[in-house]
Amino acid sequence: MKRRSSLRSIVTGVLSVIAGSLCLAMTMGQGCAPNDGGGGTATSQFLGASECRLCHSSHYDDWIGTSHASALETLKAIGQDRNAFCLGCHTVGNGEEGGFVSEASTPHLAGVQCENCHGPGFDHRSNVDDRNARPPRSIASSVCGKCHNNTHHPTLDEWQRSAHAGVNEELVPRFAAGSSLSSCGVCHSGDYRDAKFIQELSSVPETLLSGKTEAEMYGVTCVICHDPHKRTENAVESGPAKDYQLRYPEAAYPARSNSVAVLTDSSRYNLCGQCHRSRGRVWSETSRPMHHSIQSNMFHGEMPLPDDDQTPLVANTNTAHRFVPKQCVTCHMPTVEFDETLQLADSGHDFAPNLEGCSGLGCHPSPQSAEQDMAALQARVDADLAACYNRLGDPSTWEYTSEGGPADQSNIPDEIKKIRFLYYWVLYDGSKGVHNPEYTRAILTNIDVRLTALGK
Ligand code: HEC
Ligand code: HEC
Ligand code: HEC
Ligand code: HEC
Ligand code: HEC
Ligand code: HEC
Ligand code: HEC
Ligand code: HEC
Repeated sequence: MKRRSSLRSIVTGVLSVIAGSLCLAMTMGQGCAPNDGGGGTATSQFLGASECRLCHSSHYDDWIGTSHASALETLKAIGQDRNAFCLGCHTVGNGEEGGFVSEASTPHLAGVQCENCHGPGFDHRSNVDDRNARPPRSIASSVCGKCHNNTHHPTLDEWQRSAHAGVNEELVPRFAAGSSLSSCGVCHSGDYRDAKFIQELSSVPETLLSGKTEAEMYGVTCVICHDPHKRTENAVESGPAKDYQLRYPEAAYPARSNSVAVLTDSSRYNLCGQCHRSRGRVWSETSRPMHHSIQSNMFHGEMPLPDDDQTPLVANTNTAHRFVPKQCVTCHMPTVEFDETLQLADSGHDFAPNLEGCSGLGCHPSPQSAEQDMAALQARVDADLAACYNRLGDPSTWEYTSEGGPADQSNIPDEIKKIRFLYYWVLYDGSKGVHNPEYTRAILTNIDVRLTALGK
């Protein structure tokens, strides 16, 4: 459990400043890391966004409303618009040949523009039909990390430590062999999501990642969650200054349901719930437990049921946590402003829960008291899950096939199938009750009643 940035993140933060300045010394827009793709060609001639507008007017009209477009205004407002250090990340190509010099002489290169992310566009404009001269279109996080990466905003570093940074090692060989992409890639592959939801290709080839190595595959990168070009008004705090450019709503309040068709429909969920949701597995299925991704459903207090038996195993149950303002983000991505003593900020992008987010809403008076409440709840959940497992007896008699149970599951009574489903529902949520304490307690009590009725 993380309460503050660890020493490790402080050290990597400092290292990244060094790397960051080396990076800035190179041509802005050229890659600083392998797998970058956001680079330019050898000719580093910047055009400025108004030139791109001639042919890409909708991108321009979107971008002009983002805070990237006004990044030089931000420096002006605090009298730092002549500080070369700052200009490196707040303008196009500052200090480079053909790059930003001053607002008076190069007004067309003010702010964070197309060419910061796509590289210089001169060659492309000269010959738009030349595919080799087209500015790269890359979903790599290093495109953003050129600037979103130092002690003041260590976003890239934090993201790199998160599970979102790569593709699960079990899936890499499968994707490389041209399999599983359409069934698993929707949540596990940035490349698949890019093709399907960003480029909106009518069909994505199953062989999209064939022959690729782990380093050539993208996980949940910045632009899977953020739209690089436009304001979206999807953030809870979205306002004139901040928008965050989130692709999906930060918070959502779907009506609770037990239907597989409803629970597997991503459009009812918030941003995180695009992937952290049920895949539809119900208690009557026997090969393996449900997927690990059920957090949103535990959070809302619901679970899927077989179509022909919609009697809830446990009544759908609401929780106060559902109403913390930014939902998942409140606990998993609280930010900490730059701290002079630590010389570091926390951008929340390692996604680890942080109890700083739990105090200040008037429910838990302090992070310490939230920690105590959590420790007590999690201890009970751990103990009840262990007791359930023991009371069920020899796993070879009751477990799912994948977990060491019998290959032939026909002798396992429905009641046991329901109990093991409830057991795994709590276990695989991964929060040990925190996502929905009320529902979790009701499930554990329900398990106890069922086991007692069976004499176990
Ligand atoms: C004279 C017209 C013209 C101008 C000016 C122009 N582009 Fe393009 N651009 C095109 C055409 C045509 C394509 C190819 C068709 C498409 O993908 O939309 C293209 C494609 C692109 C792509 C997609 C590459 C890909 O692999 O999908 C990017 C990115 C791009 N342009 C960025 C820019 C940027 C940045 C500027 C300004 C520096 C710019 N363009 C200026 C016409 C232009
Ligand atoms: C050239 C440096 C640079 C690059 C490259 C860059 N950014 Fe930024 N970004 C900034 C700066 C500077 C700001 C602050 C602008 C301001 O408020 O003046 C910012 C602000 C933002 C914000 C906050 C917007 C808001 O409404 O609060 C988001 C989100 C963001 N960037 C995402 C990205 C993503 C995603 C990428 C990559 C696709 C990226 N940035 C690439 C420099 C950069
Ligand atoms: C390594 C790239 C980089 C450098 C160098 C840099 N900035 Fe920024 N700046 C950013 C990014 C990225 C953001 C957006 C941060 C975010 O929203 O997380 C930003 C945001 C800001 C903001 C807006 C903060 C807010 O919350 O709205 C101010 C003010 C600012 N920078 C000032 C400066 C000043 C002053 C300097 C020079 C002393 C400087 N920056 C140097 C990348 C940089
Ligand atoms: C903050 C980084 C960033 C900025 C600024 C930016 N782009 Fe992009 N652009 C991307 C990324 C990343 C992609 C691929 C993902 C996507 O399309 O959302 C992309 C995709 C594109 C494409 C391919 C078609 C498409 O929509 O997928 C074009 C064309 C393009 N950008 C043009 C522009 C132009 C013109 C501007 C300036 C007006 C601009 N971009 C500003 C990062 C950026
Ligand atoms: C609806 C989105 C979604 C789909 C589809 C999906 N996953 Fe996942 N998967 C997730 C999420 C989210 C996690 C992380 C949950 C966590 O860590 O608690 C995860 C975790 C995993 C893990 C790590 C959990 C563990 O065992 O330790 C593996 C392995 C995995 N998925 C494999 C697959 C495979 C194989 C497929 C396709 C058959 C697939 N996933 C389809 C969302 C999905
Ligand atoms: C899994 C989704 C996800 C990914 C991946 C992600 N972000 Fe974010 N990001 C968010 C959310 C949600 C917020 C809004 C946080 C809030 O409301 O406080 C955010 C906020 C931000 C902000 C504004 C922070 C501030 O304090 O002003 C910036 C800048 C940003 N992200 C950049 C990035 C960059 C750069 C990357 C890749 C290195 C990235 N994000 C990856 C979800 C994501
Ligand atoms: C595009 C799909 C996607 C989105 C959107 C997404 N995640 Fe994830 N997330 C995953 C996958 C896949 C994993 C597991 C990766 C693995 O285990 O290989 C994961 C892992 C995690 C983990 C780590 C779990 C562990 O076992 O360590 C946390 C925490 C997490 N996500 C929180 C969030 C939050 C909070 C949001 C919203 C801001 C979010 N995620 C949005 C797909 C997604
Ligand atoms: C009230 C605070 C809170 C909210 C709201 C919240 N989480 Fe969590 N989450 C936690 C805590 C605490 C843990 C358990 C961490 C631990 O014990 O290691 C956790 C665990 C997780 C894990 C599993 C991590 C692992 O190691 O297996 C994932 C994934 C996750 N949350 C995603 C989400 C998503 C998605 C949402 C929104 C639907 C969400 N969380 C809402 C606090 C919260």
